[in-house]
Amino acid sequence: MRLSLLSLAFALTASTIAQYDNQTAPFHLVLVSEDDTVNGEYLASCHEGAGIEALCLAGKPSPSKPDPTPGSVYYFNYSTSVETPNATLGTPGYVTWVLHGGNFNESQALGLWYSPATNIAIAMFWPGLEYAWGMAFDTNDMLNIQYYVDDTVTPPKAGDTTGYYNWYACTTYFTGYTYDTLSWVAGDGSQKPQNPSCAKVGVKRVFI
Ligand SMILES: *[C@@H]1O[C@H](CO)[C@@H](O)[C@H](O)[C@H]1NC(C)=O
Ligand SMILES: *[C@@H]1O[C@H](CO)[C@@H](O)[C@H](O)[C@H]1NC(C)=O
Ligand SMILES: *[C@@H]1O[C@H](CO)[C@@H](O)[C@H](O)[C@H]1NC(C)=O
Ligand SMILES: *[C@@H]1O[C@H](CO)[C@@H](O)[C@H](O)[C@H]1NC(C)=O
Repeated sequence: MRLSLLSLAFALTASTIAQYDNQTAPFHLVLVSEDDTVNGEYLASCHEGAGIEALCLAGKPSPSKPDPTPGSVYYFNYSTSVETPNATLGTPGYVTWVLHGGNFNESQALGLWYSPATNIAIAMFWPGLEYAWGMAFDTNDMLNIQYYVDDTVTPPKAGDTTGYYNWYACTTYFTGYTYDTLSWVAGDGSQKPQNPSCAKVGVKRVFI
């Protein structure tokens, strides 16, 4: 089993995963950016492999998705028994999406897929929670990821929960598919993406 260090770290800090069964109303995810070529784009789940989907820019053509697709419907799963470190940043939980198969429906949680060769992680839905990562919507409905360790100082300082918004729209390649996808740059937000196609974005939840 491949278990990323990040998902392991989250698994260790979260209590039982199965508790995240409280669900919000459905919503769309919409990009907010100073870059007009991506601002206002809806996100749409797009096939990256068996049971694996990235979040593609719905209206923007890419080599593996030449035609526009409708924005997908997402949910936020949370647990009333998980503590909220900072109410402004929001309750950590999972962004979820239902994969409709031929004879099954599977609720999947959003995660980040990393390769050590790039500082760009691709946001993806996978079966199971191996790659899932806790995320939150702040009081402005903007998607963030929270962490409580600051390693930009020596020794690393643990305790204060910080919200990160390191989202980018990037042209990415994964197992044969080239799409414009929602991506994440590792770090405290000051690092530049090494992928030259990336445009800085925010991800806003818009209830349907
Ligand atoms: C999200 O919540 C719904 C409703 O309780 C549940 O059916 C689904 O399995 C949950 N999804 C995940 C990934 O936990
Ligand atoms: C969360 O889920 C539990 C168990 O299904 C339920 O009793 C509770 O009312 C839910 N809370 C909210 C805020 O929806
Ligand atoms: C919560 O997060 C907000 C936004 O980053 C920050 O301004 C605020 O100081 C934080 N509150 C606490 C109590 O840490
Ligand atoms: C999956 O969900 C769709 C739409 O909600 C529903 O029509 C279908 O019956 C479901 N299939 C199964 C196997 O539950």
